Amino acid sequence: MNYDIDKIRSYFPVLKKEVYNKPFIYFDSAASSQKPVQVLMKEEELHNEYYGNIHRGAHYMADKATNDFEGVREKIKTFINATSTKEIVFTKGTTESINLVASSFCERFVAEGDEIIVSEMEHHANIVPWQLAAERKGARIVKLPFNDSGILEIERLIELISDKTKLISVAHVSNVLGTINPVKEIINIAHHSDVPVLVDGAQAAPHVKIDVQDLDADFYVFSAHKMYGPNGVGILFGKEKWLNEMPPYQGGGEMISEVSFEGTTFNDLPYKFEAGTPHITGVIAFGAAIDLINETGLENLTAWEHSLLEYATAKLKEIEGLRIYGEATQKSGVISFNIEGVHSYDLAMLLDKMGVALRSGHLCADTVMAHYNIPGCIRISFGMYNTKAEIDAFWEALNKVRMMF
Ligand code: ALA
Repeated sequence: MNYDIDKIRSYFPVLKKEVYNKPFIYFDSAASSQKPVQVLMKEEELHNEYYGNIHRGAHYMADKATNDFEGVREKIKTFINATSTKEIVFTKGTTESINLVASSFCERFVAEGDEIIVSEMEHHANIVPWQLAAERKGARIVKLPFNDSGILEIERLIELISDKTKLISVAHVSNVLGTINPVKEIINIAHHSDVPVLVDGAQAAPHVKIDVQDLDADFYVFSAHKMYGPNGVGILFGKEKWLNEMPPYQGGGEMISEVSFEGTTFNDLPYKFEAGTPHITGVIAFGAAIDLINETGLENLTAWEHSLLEYATAKLKEIEGLRIYGEATQKSGVISFNIEGVHSYDLAMLLDKMGVALRSGHLCADTVMAHYNIPGCIRISFGMYNTKAEIDAFWEALNKVRMMF
């Protein structure tokens, strides 16, 4: 495999740090990834060289910042193979992207008695916005279940879809189970009944090739901060036909065409959905993160992380009393587990003291915890910079901790 891990690690200064006098092992990229020098330098360059508010100023700095900002929109369009930059809306993150669609789409297309299908393996950001919208409209959320291996029961979809179904919302990759869902198949089934689909790609975008045209996704959402980019930047891809029909989400500058006290006309796509000054620095620096992913090659990155997943899974399975949640064959670099008789919080706390950063608790996915009847679990998740040597060190630390109980 053409993968220069030493070079990649050299881009992330934080990985050289020690915590509690131990080498720092970062296994929490599913929560947020670390940032490479390319991104940090881009932020600095912008502020040192050419910062100005975008789309507003008639001066050099504003023009250059606007060009770079729009250049990143173009880059994202290519990254996910959208047909037009009109389909790429900048938001604060995946959560805001979903809230935008839940609010504006439901306002226009959902009425009393209608239904929205949401999978059982969603994180809270892909459940609660639909519940809020459904409550406002008198609609109902219908659950698409998964089985104990962490695989969606998509054969149930056909019976769940009815003429009341107005939208299906599903994760591309589960943040707990790691399952890579067959979203193309789900979209195909949904489109047979003219039901649009929103794909939550927060956990997929840094790891899996996305082609929104091939998927035929109606909406696809993700966050920059899980993709080695800054936090506070999210993407909403939406087909023009939907975005054109949907009312604005927020009012303010940039989303208008003309304003008077008699009424307001709205700007063209995508600006209709971008009220106020956006995260200019974050978007421009996100371009550097996309460049890094492209230079590394998403297929190389996927293969590297898959080898880490297989290696870590095999090692964890050696541990007596350890249960892994999510055993789909199509899986991304996420492993959630519990060890019998040990509370996940205690385990995480002791591992932290040994230099390992991971996530524990409900992982913002109460419905997944409820499925397995557990209050929480431990999750390790990999990024482009992790190594098998780190997995070995983690495994040793885990065994030491286990002996304490
Ligand atoms: N949804 C993010 C996670 O899984 C925050 O950690």
